[in-house]
Amino acid sequence: MSNKDIIILGIESSCDDTSAAVLKNETILSNLIAGQSVHEDYGGVVPELASRAHQQNIVPVVDQALKKANISKNDIDAIAFTRGPGLLGSLIVGTSFAKSFSLGLGIPMVEVNHMKGHILAHFIDDPEREKPNFPFMCLTVSGGHTQLVVVNDYDDMEVVGTTKDDAAGEAFDKTAKLLGLPYPGGPIIDKYAQEGDPNIISFSKPEVPGFDYSFSGLKTNVLQVLEKANRKDPNFVKDNIKNICASLQGTIMDILFDKLVKAMRHFNIEEVAIAGGVSANSALRKRLKETGEEHGWKTHIPKFEYCTDNAAMIAIAGRYQFLEGNFADQSVSASARLKV
Ligand code: KG4
Ligand code: ZN
Repeated sequence: MSNKDIIILGIESSCDDTSAAVLKNETILSNLIAGQSVHEDYGGVVPELASRAHQQNIVPVVDQALKKANISKNDIDAIAFTRGPGLLGSLIVGTSFAKSFSLGLGIPMVEVNHMKGHILAHFIDDPEREKPNFPFMCLTVSGGHTQLVVVNDYDDMEVVGTTKDDAAGEAFDKTAKLLGLPYPGGPIIDKYAQEGDPNIISFSKPEVPGFDYSFSGLKTNVLQVLEKANRKDPNFVKDNIKNICASLQGTIMDILFDKLVKAMRHFNIEEVAIAGGVSANSALRKRLKETGEEHGWKTHIPKFEYCTDNAAMIAIAGRYQFLEGNFADQSVSASARLKV
């Protein structure tokens, strides 16, 4: 290993995935994720159970990440952790772990904003992908956020549009729940939608000024449409699940792309990326490519494993902070509502 190599251990624990990753320069050596099946019976993440599971998982996950990367803890130059936003009890586990690790090894720690991490995942080395050039627009769509972000530099980002209520991921998950599908509903709707016809059922789209979003009306509309259809045919949902999912997904995509196209024009930006859990959605990935070709944009679609929550994105975001000498000290505390 040359003297110039920088090794960062990334830790992510903002919601229900405990993840640890090892980054050497801009290359990921390992990225381990322990999911939490404990929430399945509840139809959503139970914060108290999430923090407890993080506490059980964090040491073995870090241990495995180091083993898989084939490094010892003494090779690590800094530890990067998610300070927020997210569930407080979950964030506290990762933050406390990072503090003890930093203190024990005498190495610096860097705090990372989870949403910036999703965006900066695009800078992880990948022979199949070109990295974005600044400035670019990022549509960040996850279970907790929906943001249009103008990314001017690694640490210079401006949120120009956001949701007024539910996030895009919540739109998927909450409507899936209305359809009787398990949590998280996003990937299941995606799967059914691929075999459905989006033109049989139609859902309404909101009128929101500027580049902001709203998804709560869609949930109400889905409920109304289903109730009406169920009165005529009690098997409606069961018999039409694929078409319902295709319409739902199509409507969410129309809502997302309407504002994205407007924002790209307004800010005169030519490169665009997607990030966050919902960027794993097959329709979103396809539509970004097509819309990009239509408008002459350069498009950036993340590798599947860097869409949903992972520590690789925290490690790469931490690297840029490390290079700037932006270290956190032992007084740092988790912040559930940390802003981009
Ligand atoms: O980024 P993420 O893992 O966690 C948060 O930071 O929130 O995003 C999770 C969200 C969930 O709402 C999940 O349903 C959604 O991402 N999601 C998807 C797909 N895969 C994950 N939504 C639609 N289609 C998918 N294929
Ligand atoms: Zn996330």
